Amino acid sequence: MARVALVYGTTEGQTATVAERVAAALTDRGHDPVLVHAKHLPPDFSLDEYDGCVVGASVHYRRHQRYVARFVRDHLTTLNEVPSAFFSVSMTAATGTPEADATARGLLEAFLADTGWTPDATAVFAGALKYSEYGLLTRFLMKRIARKYGGETDTSRDHEYTEWDAVERFSGEVADLLDGDGD
Ligand SMILES: Cc1cc2nc3c(=O)[nH]c(=O)nc-3n(C[C@H](O)[C@H](O)[C@H](O)COP(=O)(O)O)c2cc1C
Repeated sequence: MARVALVYGTTEGQTATVAERVAAALTDRGHDPVLVHAKHLPPDFSLDEYDGCVVGASVHYRRHQRYVARFVRDHLTTLNEVPSAFFSVSMTAATGTPEADATARGLLEAFLADTGWTPDATAVFAGALKYSEYGLLTRFLMKRIARKYGGETDTSRDHEYTEWDAVERFSGEVADLLDGDGD
């Protein structure tokens, strides 16, 4: 059984939901994941107490949360030593065209190049349009973007695009890494 830090950044909550799903899958595989919001790290947090680490972040204005990048930079040596994985949540990943997939992967790669981290596994997941969480201006903006890219424009409710099968597959890959069968 591996003790795993599952560190995430989230602005409207979808990445937290994905992180919870990864945690549940790792628990099912006999591991011991601990969910940690990267913005609210306990003062005594030490990555050295864990056997592995999964980091998740979402994209806003083409960038992942700065506080997640800071977490990665602050723990880079350990992250590059233990089994580690990164997932990125965005609406670009929901579009489904090869160009959009390449853009979503490009944003993930840019995060890794910026931080200098080389995780063992990576994934991009489609996020959600959480109109209920947006202020007036953001709701207007996101509705326009959704219209342009074929997303839902009904702002009276939220719309989830995350493919949970893909999250399960990634979790399985992470569990294999923790079991030592990642190669
Ligand atoms: C203000 C705003 C800006 C966004 N910018 C982007 C973007 O540049 N690229 C993208 O693919 N998705 C973008 N998104 C979509 C988010 O990545 C998506 O809603 C995701 O599910 C958010 O995850 P979170 O709830 O964990 O923060 C944006 C969303 C908002 C609200």
